[in-house]
Amino acid sequence: MAKDTFYITTPIYYPSGNWHIGTCYTTVVCDAMARFYRLAGKDVFFLTGTDEHGQKIENKAKEAGVTPMQFIDPIVADLKSIWQMLDISYDRFIRTTDADHVATVQKIFKRLHDSGDIYKSEYEGLYCTHCESFFTEAQLVNGKCPDCGRDVHPEKEESYFFRLSRYADRIIKLYEDNPEFLQPKSRVNEMVNNFIKPGLQDLCVSRTSITWGIPVEFDKGHVVYVWIDALSNYISALGYGSDDDSLYRKFWPADLHMTGKEIIRFHAIIWPAILMALGEELPKRVYGHGWLLVGGDKLSKSKEDKINTELTDPKEIVSRYGSDALRYFLLREIPFGSDGVYTNEGFLNRINSDLSNDLGNLVSRTTAMINQYFGGVLPAFTELTELDNELVAMINGLYGAVTKAIEEINVPKALTEIFKLVGRANKYIDETTPWILGKDPTKKDRLATVMYVLSEVIRCSATLMLAFLPKSAPEILSCYGIDAGDKNLFDGLTFGKLAAGTEVVKAKPIFPRIDIKKELAEIDAMMTERHKAAQKAKKEALTDKPKAEEPTFSEIAIDDFAKVELRVALVTSCEKIQKSKKLLKLSVDLGYEQRTVVSGIADYYAPEELVGRKVVLVANLKPAKLCGVESRGMILCSDDGEKVSLVAPDKDAKIGGRVR
Ligand code: MSP
Repeated sequence: MAKDTFYITTPIYYPSGNWHIGTCYTTVVCDAMARFYRLAGKDVFFLTGTDEHGQKIENKAKEAGVTPMQFIDPIVADLKSIWQMLDISYDRFIRTTDADHVATVQKIFKRLHDSGDIYKSEYEGLYCTHCESFFTEAQLVNGKCPDCGRDVHPEKEESYFFRLSRYADRIIKLYEDNPEFLQPKSRVNEMVNNFIKPGLQDLCVSRTSITWGIPVEFDKGHVVYVWIDALSNYISALGYGSDDDSLYRKFWPADLHMTGKEIIRFHAIIWPAILMALGEELPKRVYGHGWLLVGGDKLSKSKEDKINTELTDPKEIVSRYGSDALRYFLLREIPFGSDGVYTNEGFLNRINSDLSNDLGNLVSRTTAMINQYFGGVLPAFTELTELDNELVAMINGLYGAVTKAIEEINVPKALTEIFKLVGRANKYIDETTPWILGKDPTKKDRLATVMYVLSEVIRCSATLMLAFLPKSAPEILSCYGIDAGDKNLFDGLTFGKLAAGTEVVKAKPIFPRIDIKKELAEIDAMMTERHKAAQKAKKEALTDKPKAEEPTFSEIAIDDFAKVELRVALVTSCEKIQKSKKLLKLSVDLGYEQRTVVSGIADYYAPEELVGRKVVLVANLKPAKLCGVESRGMILCSDDGEKVSLVAPDKDAKIGGRVR
C-alpha cells in the first residue's frame, strides 16, 4: 500500500443530551479505519468533534438556567471521556466554539458573500425547531418534519442565502464523473431524485432570531446558521484560511467523510456546493452508514425516555463487558450500509460466540499446548501437509482480503475475513487432534508443525485485529513477545515470519465466557427496577407542590443599581411585528418623550390588552435593532419559567416618574 495520507472525519456531534451506543457507532467505525491505515503506513488525520451552536442549545441552556457554554462543557467532557474509554484515537477534537473555527467560518462567509454566492433576502418557510431546518410543503411527511416527525410552523425573517440552486448541474456531474464519491451507491439516486431533480432551493445560512451562533462580521444582527458553520469544521480543523494552513495543504481533500444516512444530503449536496463556490477541491468520498436500532427505533436523545430493558449507555456496557466487546459488536453487527439492531441478547451472543469461543479458545488452547508440550518455546515447523497449506494460504491472503474490505468501507466484512481464519483454525485443532499427537513421541514433529501453523494464525489475525480490538489484540500478541507498538507489524503478515524458539506465554482468558441466561435475567431485573424508580420519581415530581426555586445570584452595590434608569411609562399603541412570532412593537409615553420599544411578550399579551397600561421601562438601555425595528428601552416583566407577566406600577404612579 502506498505510504500516503489519509484524512477521515466523523460528523460533529450535537451536545444536546446524554450519549448512547448509537452515537458511538460512526466514531468507532472511523477509529477502526484510522488505526488500520496508520498500521498500513499511511499518514492519517482523524477528526471528530462537537457541533455546538444553534437554537436547540440556546433553548436548552435557557431551560437549565445556565449559559450555552455552561450547558455544553460538561456534555462535551462526557463525550470525550467516552471516546477515551473506547480508545478513540482522534488527531483533533474540534468544537465549533473553538476560536480558530469561528474565525475561519467568518472568513468563509465573507468570501462567499463577496463572490455573490451569499445574498440577503427574506426567508419564509416551514420550520422545524428541533432540526433547525426549513422545509418546503412538498418535503413534509404527513405534514410533519421529514427528519424527526415533529410539527413544523411557518416562519419568516431576514436572512442571508447561499445560492445552492446554482450548483445543481455541477453536483449531478460530480456523481456521474466520480462513482466513488457517494456511497453506498443507492444514496446517489436518493439525492438526485428526492432533492436535486425536484429543484434545489437556495439555502438559508444566517438567522437574526438566534444569538448563540457565529456572528456575521459585516452584519451584526445575523449569526451563521447551521450548515456553513458545521460543515466548515472539516477544513477549519486543518487551518484553512489561517496563517498556518500546512495541515490543510497536506491532508485536504478528505479521503472519507463518514456520516449517518440522515445527514448525507448535507454532505453530498450542500458541502460540495460550498466547496465549489470557494474554489476548493472536493472530498474524495462521502459514506452514509445505517443506524443502530434499539427495539426497532433509531436511538436518539428524544426517545431516551422510552421503556426498554436494553442497555444503551456505552459507559455501562463497557464497565460490564469491556471496551473491545462494545467496539467489536458495533463494528461487526451493522451490515454494510444498512441498519443493525442492538439487543442485550444479540450483543451477549455475539461476544460469547466470536470473542470468547472462537478467538479466546484458539489463543488459550494454542498457548497452553505450546507450554504443555514444548515448555513454552515455539517449535519450528517441518513438512507442511495439504491441510496445513490450506491454512497457510488463508493466512497469506488475509491482509489483502481485509485491506480490500476496508477500502470498500465494509468493516463487518473485514472482521468476517479475520474470524473466518480463526474459525478455520479451531476446526484445524479438532482435525489434527494435538492431544493425541502429544501422547505419541514419534509424532512430535507433526505436533510442532501444528503448533507453528496455529501460532501464525494467531499472530497474523491478532495483528490485523489491532485496529478493531486495540486492548485485546496487543494482549494476544504479547503472548508471543510481539510489541503492538511496532510500526512495521503489517510488513510481516505472511506465513513463516515467527521465529522458532520464541518464548510463548500461556494466555489469560481474554473474554471470559458469559452465562447468557443468568446475565439477561440480571439485566432485566436491574433495568426494570430502574424504570420503576424513574416512574416513581416522575410521579412524585408531578404530585409534589412546586417548591419555589431558591435563587442564586451575586450581590451588587447600590451604586450599580443606581445606574439603571427605571421609569413609569404609558403604552399608547401596540402592534405585532409581522416577521416575528414573539415580538410586539410598543409606543410608550414617558411624559418627557415618546419611544418605540420592542418586547418579546406576544405569546402572553395581545396588542390591544396593553394599550393604556402603565409599565416600568428600563429607560437608559442601549438601543437595539430587533427584526429591523429599533427598540429604545425594555419593559419589565416577571418570568417564572412558564408565564411572563407585566410588572405594573400603582395606578397613581406618575408617567415618567422614576422607579427606585
Ligand atoms: N451535528 C450534526 C452533524 C454535522 S456534520 C457537519 C449531527 N449530529 S448528531 O449528534 O445528531 O449525529 C452525529 C452522528 O451520530 C451522525 O452520523 C448520526 O447518524 C450518528 N448517530 C446518532 N444516532 C445513531 C444511531 N442510533 N445509529 C447510528 N448512528 C447514529 O447530525
